[in-house]
Amino acid sequence: MKLLVIGSGGREHALAWRLARSPRVHKVYVAPGNGGTQHGDLLENVPYTTAEDLAAFVQREGVSLTVVGPEAPLAAGVVDVFRAQGLKIFGPTKAAAQLESSKDYAKAFMERHGIPTARYQTFTDPAQAHAYVDAEGAPIVIKADGLAAGKGVVVAMTLEEAHGAIDAMLGDGSLGDAGARVVIEEFLTGEEASFIVMCDGRNVLALATSQDHKRLQDGDQGPNTGGMGAYSPAPIVTPELHHRIMREIILPTVQGMSRDGIPYTGFLYAGLMIAAGDDPDRPIKTLEFNCRMGDPETQPIMMRVKSDLLEALEHAVDGTLDQADIVWDRRTALGVVLAAHNYPNPPRTGDVIKGLPTDTEDAVVFHAATRIEGNEVQTTGGRVLCVTALGDSVRIARERAYEVVNQVHFDGRQYRSDIGWRALKPSQQKSGKSGA
Ligand code: AMP
Ligand code: GLY
Repeated sequence: MKLLVIGSGGREHALAWRLARSPRVHKVYVAPGNGGTQHGDLLENVPYTTAEDLAAFVQREGVSLTVVGPEAPLAAGVVDVFRAQGLKIFGPTKAAAQLESSKDYAKAFMERHGIPTARYQTFTDPAQAHAYVDAEGAPIVIKADGLAAGKGVVVAMTLEEAHGAIDAMLGDGSLGDAGARVVIEEFLTGEEASFIVMCDGRNVLALATSQDHKRLQDGDQGPNTGGMGAYSPAPIVTPELHHRIMREIILPTVQGMSRDGIPYTGFLYAGLMIAAGDDPDRPIKTLEFNCRMGDPETQPIMMRVKSDLLEALEHAVDGTLDQADIVWDRRTALGVVLAAHNYPNPPRTGDVIKGLPTDTEDAVVFHAATRIEGNEVQTTGGRVLCVTALGDSVRIARERAYEVVNQVHFDGRQYRSDIGWRALKPSQQKSGKSGA
C-alpha cells in the first residue's frame, strides 16, 4: 500500500517514519518533505504543494490514504478537494480547521458549548481594545485572530506591553490579515500539556499525552518558539485528569462541532493549562485548539507507538475509530530540537550538518529544516532536527537524547539543555503513575 504525508517538518518525518513500519505499507511519499524523508527507508519526497497537484499525484500513483501534517494546507481546504474526488484523507475540512485558523471562532465555539477556556473579548477597533486592557489590567494575553505561525500571541506582563501588542496587531498591520482582529483574554497560570486525539466525526481515540517547551532558552526563558523539545507521556496528566479532559473538553468539542453541522475529522490538539496544586477538581482550561498534531510533540509520540498506526488511520477515515486502539510503549520518549542560528528570528540557512548518527531502535534523529546537497546535509530553516530517544524513565530518555545531540554539529546550532525538567521535578517523580 502507498501512503502520502503532506508537509515538510519534523512532525511529518516522524509520521512517515512510523507509517513506513506498518507491515502493509511499501511506500510513504512525503510532499514536499525534507532531507530526512528523502533518504529514509521506504520514504520518498515528491515536490507537489497545491491541493490540486497533490490530488492528481494520488490518483496517478494509486496512493491509498493521505495524512496532512501542518495547518496551512488544512486551512486552505486540501481535505475538501480530496474528498470531492473521492480520495481518502485524514484531516479536518476547511470549515472544521477554523478551530485553529480563527481564535475568535474557537473562543466563540467554546463559549457556546460550555468548554472551559480563559475569559475573553474580540476587537477590531484599537481604541476599544486599549480601553478593555486598561479596565482589565495586566498580565493579560493578546492574540491575533488568524494563523500567524506562532507569532500571534503576546503574553503581556505589563499594560505597556499589552498596548504595544494591540498597536502592532491592529495598528500597523504587521501581521496582515491575521491581526485584523484580536482576541484579548484572561492570563492563566498553571502547567501546560498537549492533549492530542484522533477524531472520525463522532468517535475519539486519545493519543499519548505530551508536553512541549515553547521558550527558546533553559528555564523557560527567552522568546516563544514553535517548540524546542517535547516528551511523552506528560506525568501531570494522571489517569483522573485524563478522564476529566476527555469529559470536559474533548468530547464536548467533538459533539459541539457535530451539532454545529461541521463534524470534526482529523487530529485535534488541545493546548491545556492545568491549574497548580493537587486538588482533583482544579481547573483545566483550553488555551488553544490546533487542527493537527503538534511539532515537536509528534516526534516522541510516534516513537512510542507500538501497534500499526495505519490501522488506526484506516478506522479514522472510515468512521470506525470506536473499534481502533493504539498500543503504547510504556517507556518515555523525549525529543530535543536543534535550531538554526538566529531562530526564532529569520534563521541562517545553508549550514552543513555533521555527525548525524545511524538511527537505532531507541534513538532517532527526525529532520525538519534540512536538505541534501550532494554528500552534504544542510540546514534550510529554523527548527532543523529533533533528536528523539526512548528510555525507561524521563532521566534515561533524556540522557540518551543528549548523547546523540552531542554528536551532531552545525554552526550556530541552538538547543535547550533542560528538556523534560518538569517531569523530573521531585514532586512529580513521587506522584507515580501517569496516563498514556
Ligand atoms: P497559543 O498559540 O494560543 O497556544 O499561545 C501560545 C502560548 O502562549 C501558550 O502555549 C501559552 O504558553 C501562552 N498563552 C496563551 N494563552 C494564554 C493565557 N490565556 N494565559 C497564559 N498564557 C497563555
Ligand atoms: N508545539 C506546538 C504546536 O505544534 O503547536
